[in-house]
Amino acid sequence: MIKVDVKGCSSFVDAAKYESYVAKALDAFDVLKNETGAGNDFLGWKKLPRQITDRELEDYEAIRDKWMKKGVNLVIAIGIGGSYLGAKCVMEALSHNFAKQLKRKDAPEVVFAGNNLSEEYLAELMDLAAERNTACIVISKSGTTTEPAVAFRVVKQYLESKYGKQEAADRIVAITDAKKGALKTLSTQENYVSFVVPDNVGGRFSVLTPVGLLPICVAGFDIRALVAGALDAMKGLEIKSENNPAIIYAAMRNLLHSELGKSTEILVNYNPKLTYVAEWWKQLYGESEGKDGKGIYPASVNNTADLHSMGQFIQEGSRIMFETVLHVDRAQRSVVIEADDQNLDQLNFLSGKHVEHCNHMAELGTQLAHIDGGVPQIAVNMEVVDAFNLGGLLYFFEFACGISAYILGVNPFNQPGVEAYKKNMFALLEKPGYEEATKAIRERL
Ligand code: PA5
Repeated sequence: MIKVDVKGCSSFVDAAKYESYVAKALDAFDVLKNETGAGNDFLGWKKLPRQITDRELEDYEAIRDKWMKKGVNLVIAIGIGGSYLGAKCVMEALSHNFAKQLKRKDAPEVVFAGNNLSEEYLAELMDLAAERNTACIVISKSGTTTEPAVAFRVVKQYLESKYGKQEAADRIVAITDAKKGALKTLSTQENYVSFVVPDNVGGRFSVLTPVGLLPICVAGFDIRALVAGALDAMKGLEIKSENNPAIIYAAMRNLLHSELGKSTEILVNYNPKLTYVAEWWKQLYGESEGKDGKGIYPASVNNTADLHSMGQFIQEGSRIMFETVLHVDRAQRSVVIEADDQNLDQLNFLSGKHVEHCNHMAELGTQLAHIDGGVPQIAVNMEVVDAFNLGGLLYFFEFACGISAYILGVNPFNQPGVEAYKKNMFALLEKPGYEEATKAIRERL
């Protein structure tokens, strides 16, 4: 079970003030639970851990098994934002740090595309595909997003020229809306196996739908444990209590923001495998809360590496931030520091100690130093980085995000601001229908 510890905020925060924010969080909890808040037609994600069936998971496993029988060793997962980051963060967290170099081949390698518009990226992806036995999962809820559509056009044409139209169709799975969108039309016409993104689940809350589960499964990870972990977390999080970790987290981050003017939250990890959990979290909180001139800017650091870059700023720069530290109780591998006869590096005082012990002391020391430097510390504790705990962590952050955004007074489930760049891009690209906008934007250049 995920635990939240806010002791590292106590020197900044008055207990009565904290209680008042807990009260706000409990009210927001009711709004989320009773589905009475803004965006309440996008709350399907709340029930997912309980609704996912064995049959559904078997369908994903069947795709993985079919492709493995064909000898597929590369799957290109195409998607952007919520149609990308959930799968990416789980895979990074569960992968061996050196999986690529070790070339372990118990499942296809999953790489991502459609999350940028870099020509070099796509060209180099095709270099990789040329050397591999390739399949593709294309994911777009709306089915109209430009970045994945461009990537899919390239990958589809490549697969068709390499394997023929019929075999290419057997190597493509589409995940999109049940009825609408260009991807839906295309996948029906081409007879692709397809899965539906439920209407009431927004992209950044979709990791426990086919959007996240299929790529994670195809990459060989344990989706059953991931879902079980989310369900376990859900059972605790749906209890209305001031000890509920989502209440504690949502209350404290809003207090630090609204009362102390902390405009930035830095998610801190001490395990490189969690780098993309922070990327996923940044999208979740950034897109859910950053609107109507409100929100806490979500940032991240990867320690201890970033203690030697961003550490200086966090310790002594503008006092705009608080930190949320992703604490992991234990490592799953063991490396003990041995004594050395010469002790030239003067590290013998550490002999017999686990490296993770040093990591934990670096974490603790940093938290205390940052408190001294005026940076409040929240800790989100997980036991170990595995599929079960990760499922719990992702569900925890989603649930807390709903509560937190309702305290802040915004609709957590829309993203109207994302349209602005698209409008300009289409105008600049002279998309039919954008003639007026094209004229207007050219005058600005
Ligand atoms: O959270 C969201 O809804 C967005 O980030 C979307 O996931 C992202 O824009 C991609 O959209 P789509 O899946 O429709 O291509």
